[in-house]
Amino acid sequence: MKTEFLSESIEDTGKLAQEMGSKAKQGEVYALYGDLGTGKTLFTKNFALGMEITEEITSPTFTLLEEYDAEIPLYHFDLYRIESPEELDFLSFEEYWEGKGVSVIEWAERAQDRLPENTVKIYITYIDSCRRKISIEHPDY
Ligand SMILES: Nc1ncnc2c1ncn2[C@@H]1O[C@H](COP(=O)(O)OP(=O)(O)O)[C@@H](O)[C@H]1O
Ligand SMILES: [Mg+2]
Repeated sequence: MKTEFLSESIEDTGKLAQEMGSKAKQGEVYALYGDLGTGKTLFTKNFALGMEITEEITSPTFTLLEEYDAEIPLYHFDLYRIESPEELDFLSFEEYWEGKGVSVIEWAERAQDRLPENTVKIYITYIDSCRRKISIEHPDY
């Protein structure tokens, strides 16, 4: 199933992400696709708010992964620096979605085919300085 949204502001993107975060369940994987500055980190911050994570979300560009503890933990990946999917072996990448948390992955392009089948895919495209197109592909169960 594919759903498309037009975000006309930071608040629009935030509201959508917060709503999705509030519904996130253990073991789910959310993959974020889109160029630099489209709003992947903004989306993740608001998604975390929806999960009732109060800690500040920082960008894990240099660490690849930040974990946030909560009733359902959040695993926030940023794969920008990954050059080949094999590098993900060092992260034990696949183990995260077998765990009890929810994974949100920025630069999911870099993981290529190493995402689970039931990944929710979120494509963000830049329209102009305040507008974004957000397409969400839900897995068909
Ligand atoms: N409608 C919108 N949705 C998301 N971000 C927006 C929007 N309009 C403007 N922005 C701005 O775009 C930038 C997105 O930055 P960021 O979330 O760090 O992007 P990314 O992680 O994709 O590189 C922020 O400065 C944000 O304020
Ligand atoms: Mg980012």
